[in-house]
Amino acid sequence: MSCSFFSRGREMEYSLTSCLLCLLLTWVLLQALRSITGGSRASSGKLPPGPRRIPILGNLLDLGDKPHKSLAELAKTHGPLMSLKLGSLTTIVVSSAAMAKEVLQNHDLTFSNRTIGDAVRVKQHDEVGLPWMPVSPLSRTLRKVCNSHFFSNKKLNANQYLRRKKIEELLSYVHKHGRAGVAVNIGQAAFNTSINLLSNTVFSKDLVDPNSKDAQAFKQTVCSIMEEGGKTNLADYFPVLRKIDPQGVRRRMSIHLTKLLNLVDKMFDERLHSRKEHGSIAYDDVLDTLLDIIEDNLVELNKTHLTHLLGVFFVAGTDTTSVSLEWAMAELLQNPKVLQKAQVELKKTIGKGNQVEESDIARLPYLQAIIKETFRMHPPLPLLLPRRAGPDAEIHGFRIPEGSQVLVNAWAIGRDPDIWENPECFRPERFLGLEIDVKGRNFELIPFGAGRRICPGLPLAMRMLHLMLGSLINNFDWKIEGGVMNMEEKFGISLQKAEPLRAVPIPLV
Ligand code: HEM
Repeated sequence: MSCSFFSRGREMEYSLTSCLLCLLLTWVLLQALRSITGGSRASSGKLPPGPRRIPILGNLLDLGDKPHKSLAELAKTHGPLMSLKLGSLTTIVVSSAAMAKEVLQNHDLTFSNRTIGDAVRVKQHDEVGLPWMPVSPLSRTLRKVCNSHFFSNKKLNANQYLRRKKIEELLSYVHKHGRAGVAVNIGQAAFNTSINLLSNTVFSKDLVDPNSKDAQAFKQTVCSIMEEGGKTNLADYFPVLRKIDPQGVRRRMSIHLTKLLNLVDKMFDERLHSRKEHGSIAYDDVLDTLLDIIEDNLVELNKTHLTHLLGVFFVAGTDTTSVSLEWAMAELLQNPKVLQKAQVELKKTIGKGNQVEESDIARLPYLQAIIKETFRMHPPLPLLLPRRAGPDAEIHGFRIPEGSQVLVNAWAIGRDPDIWENPECFRPERFLGLEIDVKGRNFELIPFGAGRRICPGLPLAMRMLHLMLGSLINNFDWKIEGGVMNMEEKFGISLQKAEPLRAVPIPLV
């Protein structure tokens, strides 16, 4: 996401000043050209209302360092369908469940493509990477492969043993800290576990293994891609700057993405080699499934598509999952009664200290409610991923210009007082007995998006989260290091805690 304008204000001052001059010149030239040619073609229909803009920057300065919050505040004045100008990019912001349903369901096809940031144009990733490619027969095939071959219940049930082992390792890591009375950095532990849960599901391999050079390189590369992806890139708001890549974001992204794709390629080749040597040992992981699909010529996909797909899983699935776990733990430690109630449910259902299995999740409604409540208050991608308006888009009588960026503020919807009673309170009970899930049917709660671009990793992410959270609280009580916690947010590629959560585990058994 590239909306974190000014989140790294100081870092950007230099590029901003040097680029402004160039922009000013371009703007003056364009204005002059317009007056000579008689201006642009008048278009019918009104744009949605929005705040006043200043020349060149438009509303960029309105975003602040927490754009999801600033946009929610602006929506209180301008309404749930709002238009802004971010540099030269017309941006439409959706801030209510009803409007989200209009965009993501009723006009799904019109808004099903993405606005492409300059950084993802490297290695043709915008054309072959699933999150960015336009809706096409290729994207449909890739999504079908994900849904039926990777993330179906049957497939996930078959490879759950790969994740079970990683949870045991997480618990033994936490036990060590417990015995020493030392705090665990929950976000870091969750990140390492998430990346290993994912890499075991995909490759049957650990990627956070201090003894493996490849693993360390992989983790570092995934982190660097996230970092570049979370940066505000002026070239996204002023396309005239694309050629010069003023902040070097595209150049660095190209280096990291090439590394990631090479590492995935290496995993492919190793597995191909081992299949030749040892025949088809069933790993039941994603990689094996993919190779079977290719060998059986089941679908028209080539190795480039699949390498990009697997690379994407790590970038899209690691941070989102670990950030959610960190927020869930932070809320539980802030709300000891909720934590206690969850522990009682776990004790009754599976027994204190016993391993939580994926098959237990359905029998843990309060744990499920905690995860939903965490997503309501802390959606990891508060503005989802940007959509792009297709031709002739119109919502509630307002014209949405073709090519506009469309942002759905899931964070604002999750805290809308017209939907949620006491929206600022963490109260999982609100979900008990309610038929609301996160699968894109209930627009009050859409952390995974909705419609034809809804997150395909949802079933895996939900298993990983329940498993990690259930295990951490069924085995330990927790004490916040220093006794106080800061619940401030930090906007980046995902919505992080500004201060990492550190807590001391106290073994329950
Ligand atoms: C808590 C965890 C996660 C959250 C909150 C999350 C959220 C999202 C959101 C909001 C989108 C955009 C949806 C839209 O435009 O409507 C998305 C897309 C995507 N996610 Fe996730 N995600 C998570 C985990 C995962 C995992 C584990 C994977 C894969 C292993 C994954 C793979 C993807 C892919 C490939 C896309 C692009 C889909 C497309 O554009 O067609 N995500 N995710």
